[in-house]
Amino acid sequence: MLCLVVLSIEYHGFAQKAAPQLGKAPIKAIVAAMTLEEKAKLVVGNGFHMPGLSTPSGPTIGQTQDKVPGAAGTTFALPRLGIPSIVVSDGPAGVRIEPIRNKDSSKTYYATAWPVATLLASSWDTSLVKKVGVAFGQEVREYGIDVILGPALNIHRNPLGGRNFEYYSEDPLVAGSITAAMVKGIQSNGVGTSIKHFAANNQETDRNTVNTIVSERALREIYLKGFEIAVKQSHPWTVMSSYNYINGTYTSESYDLLTTILRKEWGYKGFVMTDWFGGKDPVAQIKSGNNLLMPGTADQAKKILDAVNSGALDEKVLDENVAGILEIILKSPAFKSYKYSDKPNLKQDAAVSRMAATEGMVLLKNDNKALPFTKAIHKIALFGINGYELIAGGTGSGDVNKAYSISLAQGLSAAGYTVDAAVKKSYTDYITEEKIKHPKKGFIEEFMHPTPPMTEMQANNELVAARAGENDIAVIAIGRNAGEGRDRKLEADYNLDETETMMIKTVTNFFHSLHKNVVVVLNIGGVINVSDWKDGVDGILLAWQPGLEGGNAITDILSGKVNPSGKLASTFPASYNDVPSAKNFPGKEFPEKAVTGMMGMKMIPAEVTYEEGIYVGYRYYNTFNVPVTYEFGYGLSYTSFNYTGLKLSSTSFNGKITAKVTVTNTGKVAGKEVVQLYLSAPAGKLNKPAQELKGFAKTGLLQPGKSQTITFTLHPEDLASFDESSSSWIAEPGTYTVKIGASSSKINQAATFILAKELVTEKDNKVLVPQVSINELKKM
Ligand code: BGC
Repeated sequence: MLCLVVLSIEYHGFAQKAAPQLGKAPIKAIVAAMTLEEKAKLVVGNGFHMPGLSTPSGPTIGQTQDKVPGAAGTTFALPRLGIPSIVVSDGPAGVRIEPIRNKDSSKTYYATAWPVATLLASSWDTSLVKKVGVAFGQEVREYGIDVILGPALNIHRNPLGGRNFEYYSEDPLVAGSITAAMVKGIQSNGVGTSIKHFAANNQETDRNTVNTIVSERALREIYLKGFEIAVKQSHPWTVMSSYNYINGTYTSESYDLLTTILRKEWGYKGFVMTDWFGGKDPVAQIKSGNNLLMPGTADQAKKILDAVNSGALDEKVLDENVAGILEIILKSPAFKSYKYSDKPNLKQDAAVSRMAATEGMVLLKNDNKALPFTKAIHKIALFGINGYELIAGGTGSGDVNKAYSISLAQGLSAAGYTVDAAVKKSYTDYITEEKIKHPKKGFIEEFMHPTPPMTEMQANNELVAARAGENDIAVIAIGRNAGEGRDRKLEADYNLDETETMMIKTVTNFFHSLHKNVVVVLNIGGVINVSDWKDGVDGILLAWQPGLEGGNAITDILSGKVNPSGKLASTFPASYNDVPSAKNFPGKEFPEKAVTGMMGMKMIPAEVTYEEGIYVGYRYYNTFNVPVTYEFGYGLSYTSFNYTGLKLSSTSFNGKITAKVTVTNTGKVAGKEVVQLYLSAPAGKLNKPAQELKGFAKTGLLQPGKSQTITFTLHPEDLASFDESSSSWIAEPGTYTVKIGASSSKINQAATFILAKELVTEKDNKVLVPQVSINELKKM
């Protein structure tokens, strides 16, 4: 106590002589030494510096020299208190900064394009994802960045979501666990992450105006759960609030979301930043616990300052937000004056990227032993523009400025296959012509008026016929790209267009007539329609958007160098109309209330109601017996696995239960298996999905005949669902079935246990209540 008094006298004394310095004096003393104006500037970023674009409210305040050109933003520096500016940069698939500075290409700043999130999630391998994170974080640190704006983990509510490639899964356990692994990996480098977009940001249409109307239960179980897992397991330095409203309040202005749930219920200790220009009312944002407003405008700082002066905002609340930012700045490389090299180990990272890409590719179909290529396969006829131009990752802030990307044609050639020259020439000529017709635009222009994706080249019957005889196999690449600002379309995007369908038909006709196989490689970021054409071809490899080494990684799988072990973390439905959110995506617009927003963009108020409730993805298909094309958890291997000996630690639940199962490689080549644990609950007062994923694990590389025993542990919260009437998580009594499977429908082993009495596993606050009634889907 005495010691404290002495300290405070000393600081009081210092304030008159020298200002306290961050890291030397307690944060409280730093905050106390800040002027109101300085506080208002610290909670507002330094502005947005894009060539040809200034912030809407004119010149920005407190402009520091941007340290890292092309980074998304910086915070305000206060040298007199030892507070440096920190740099935040996109994004989830790799560092996104300007690769060339001052037109000097003698030194470049390219980064590794990692495989996109949908691919990483399909690996179901948290140690692999952590490994990627460790390498990724090294690039963040060596490029002088303090916080990377990722990973992103919104739920794949609908396949048309434009940013699904940036997100992991339709299931919150997969999304949360993979996020936690990525955060741990990145942050092990002494840099921070920003998990985003918190929360229920599941569409791009009207992203800044849409009111997401969703039940408390669906929010808690589906849309918040992944964030909760990530926050509790990996302590991300920052969280990014989303653009949308939830039940009538902007997420960045929601005390219930950012303080009651995130901090009080989950114990979150980092800071929250807005998405870029997100929300409307800076004072409400500060009051809600949204510490930092990005990228920041002078107008926001002024409003905050005025609010304190008028008494509308308690300065103590502002102080808490400031302190939250300072706690993180204290850990940052900028604060530690880290001498970054601008020379991350890109060569080593490219190898990690290639390896990771092979781990998350999913073999969807493999008839006639089409894959892996046998020793007799040397000559390959490669069709489809994406065979020659890889889509390494998606667009927008989730894009990465990479030095190169390896096309499938390049990957096949590098592995010693002969890619048919005549076919290749027809595609490369076509691509060149198309590029001349649609020259590349600047970032902003592209964002406002995107160039339509290059259409597929018409298959030339004579060429295909002539080359079928000359080659050993046909490979067809189908590509899709999307990104922020726009959702995907049903026609010519989710569904193949006519040219693509014709190409598949023509190629299969000619190659099959000569008894040669046809394999399709899907170079896509999100789910597409495969139902209409899959029966015609022999093999389908879902390669996702595999990062800059994509062509090599795809070849590793096609050639059998790597045995595929990825499984779907989102369902491929039989038809788009079967998607539970299809009739509520992207919701309703109110054009009569439209206003003009930033950069002259029309802002149309909108709302979307999550009528499907908790029945998202497999939770819906399994419960309502809706057939799908490829189910959640599905993926083939070049070998086969057997599951034996499922044993529960007890037949009654008492605190926890463990489930052990042995997996054996029964095939002829080494391989890895993703083992999934689903739990079915007894019927009770709460509606329950037929089954829910409660655990997953990937085996090591099992040699033929070798086994591995996997142990899962179920805790009380794994049995519980959110009961809106009591705002608590309850597990109802009765018989639970543990199902261990190779996918959500391929259950290999099952066992039951009994829960004798109802358990209340957690009591929460009654918050984020919908303002209108929702006609929510229920199982009768
Ligand atoms: C995106 C964020 C991104 C930010 C900064 C926003 O438009 O929604 O995901 O991190 O821009 O570039």
